Amino acid sequence: MCGIVGYIGHRQADELIIKGLERLEYRGYDSAGIAIINNGLAIFKKAGKVKALRKMIKTSDTSGTLGIGHTRWATHGEPNDKNAHPHMGNNGRLALVHNGIIENYAVLKSALMAEGHTFSSDTDTEVLVHLIEEIQKEGNLALEEAVRLALNRVEGAYAIAVVDRNNPGILVGARKQSPLLVGIGDNEFFIGSDASPFLDSTKRVVYLEDGQVACISLEKGLQLRNTANEEQPPFIQTLDLQIEALEKEGYEHFMLKEIYEQPKTILDAMRGRISSKESRVTLRGLEEYANRFVRANRIIIVACGTSYHSGLIGEYLIEDLARIPVEVEYASEFRYRNPILSERDIVIAISQSGETADTMAALELAKQKGAMIYGIVNSVGSSIARLTDAGSYIHAGPEIGVASTKAFTGQVTVLTLLALSLARKLSTISNTYFQTLVRELELIPSKVEEILKENDHIKYIAKEVKDHHNALYLGRGYNFPVALEGALKLKEISYVHAEGYPAAEMKHGPIALIDENMPVYVTATNKSAYDKIVSNVQEVVARKGRVIAIVNKGEKLIAKIADHVIEIPSTEEPLTPLLSVIPLQLLSYHIAVELGRNVDQPRNLAKSVTVE
Ligand code: G6P
Repeated sequence: MCGIVGYIGHRQADELIIKGLERLEYRGYDSAGIAIINNGLAIFKKAGKVKALRKMIKTSDTSGTLGIGHTRWATHGEPNDKNAHPHMGNNGRLALVHNGIIENYAVLKSALMAEGHTFSSDTDTEVLVHLIEEIQKEGNLALEEAVRLALNRVEGAYAIAVVDRNNPGILVGARKQSPLLVGIGDNEFFIGSDASPFLDSTKRVVYLEDGQVACISLEKGLQLRNTANEEQPPFIQTLDLQIEALEKEGYEHFMLKEIYEQPKTILDAMRGRISSKESRVTLRGLEEYANRFVRANRIIIVACGTSYHSGLIGEYLIEDLARIPVEVEYASEFRYRNPILSERDIVIAISQSGETADTMAALELAKQKGAMIYGIVNSVGSSIARLTDAGSYIHAGPEIGVASTKAFTGQVTVLTLLALSLARKLSTISNTYFQTLVRELELIPSKVEEILKENDHIKYIAKEVKDHHNALYLGRGYNFPVALEGALKLKEISYVHAEGYPAAEMKHGPIALIDENMPVYVTATNKSAYDKIVSNVQEVVARKGRVIAIVNKGEKLIAKIADHVIEIPSTEEPLTPLLSVIPLQLLSYHIAVELGRNVDQPRNLAKSVTVE
């Protein structure tokens, strides 16, 4: 949550920072601000999107070659001008931007007030800049030294960038549990919550480690120290990321672009890892730890949001195919309930961003307790990717729409590969079935392509159902987590209340809600539960519910009684989620567009949740 940008170099900082903030808006977009060092310190901040800030500074003097910026997702203090970052101390020297939460801010604030500090916002962040100012004042210290000492007194999570009017050649950044990178250009440096703000200027980056403080100047370059004041050599990496991945490329929204990218991203998740010709599935991360996996007592999957739903599909896949017991837990619940873990357990974290605070904390707990930790992550070089013992990237490229789509199918693809690879090693499925699944998996991208051709039909259905205030999503077996994901997609971007349920559970409660105003989205593509789900559809129709059904091509029974039917190609049952989720993503997208919602930046949400 919250995006941070910083720049020091020879170019004008304002436009580079504002453009960087626009790229980071997926992290939060309730207010934004910028601080520039020129002859003094100029700060501009505004509630609303970065667009509002851009408009505000249009006629102001923002010249200068050193500056920081911030786009906010509010935690402490409502989203208004005064709570927007950057924050200043009392003497007007320092400006600071922050992503995270200073947990002991109340104690620090009282102590600082006793020293005479006055505060002008409701944020935890403002306390940190006052603390740095106080320490700097006491010892007449260099900025980086005052920041380091202040951070030693802070509890909580942070990524920060700080500038000092009296040190106009220095940019300071630091991180603990929230991401921060330094981009190294040609006699210029950038700071970012990710690399997107500076990708068109440099691909050479240094990921800060927890507890590191970066002091950047044009004379001395990047210098790193930890909070114990030990010098640390920076490790420079070159990113393999293309700038086009951050553009809409003609689509109206990032979400639509990302839905349409799925034939390619599913293929990318499989690339080099699967071959029906060689009858092979290989995940390098898994191979290194193959013994741990085949001897595992159980696998525990921890994740949040959409990643939790792909985890549920992982449970069905791994238990069904590889016969290893699996539990799936919300990371936030797992970490606080004193779970029983042993060295024979494997904990898999699933995360698009690789930065979700609860998922990180759950992994840290699992590591402490001796379990092996594995990551299924999209964002290369992210905190979770670096914390895990091993893992597999999904290679979906940057996902910018807040509602996750291509990351979901990428995660499910990698989980399918994992289950197949384990099934092969443990001989829990026959060679023939293994071959059939591998062959079918290779066909999934072209079948997704076929479903995308139904877009106009799906858009038409969206227009028909858009005015209902509630929705129910039903599915059985492999399609139950798809029902949960369908409901989440609708809630997130259209603000329509929706619930996902196992179809048979409908009789135990939700059936009471069904009348002619309740659209019921039924996914009926799994052959094993087909007859049962036909009965469930009959039960909905008998109560005048409006049925929108996703069925296999050529299906007759449900097609006759449902209000709307979306036909998709059939596949082997364990692979059905990769197909059945696509029409649900498109439906949510079109309903949200019809309702005039901000699809890519829905209210109150953020893409990367780095607070607990
Ligand atoms: C937020 C995002 C969701 C995402 C969830 C977990 O809520 O809006 O799209 O599924 O976080 O994020 P992760 O990056 O760990 O997959």
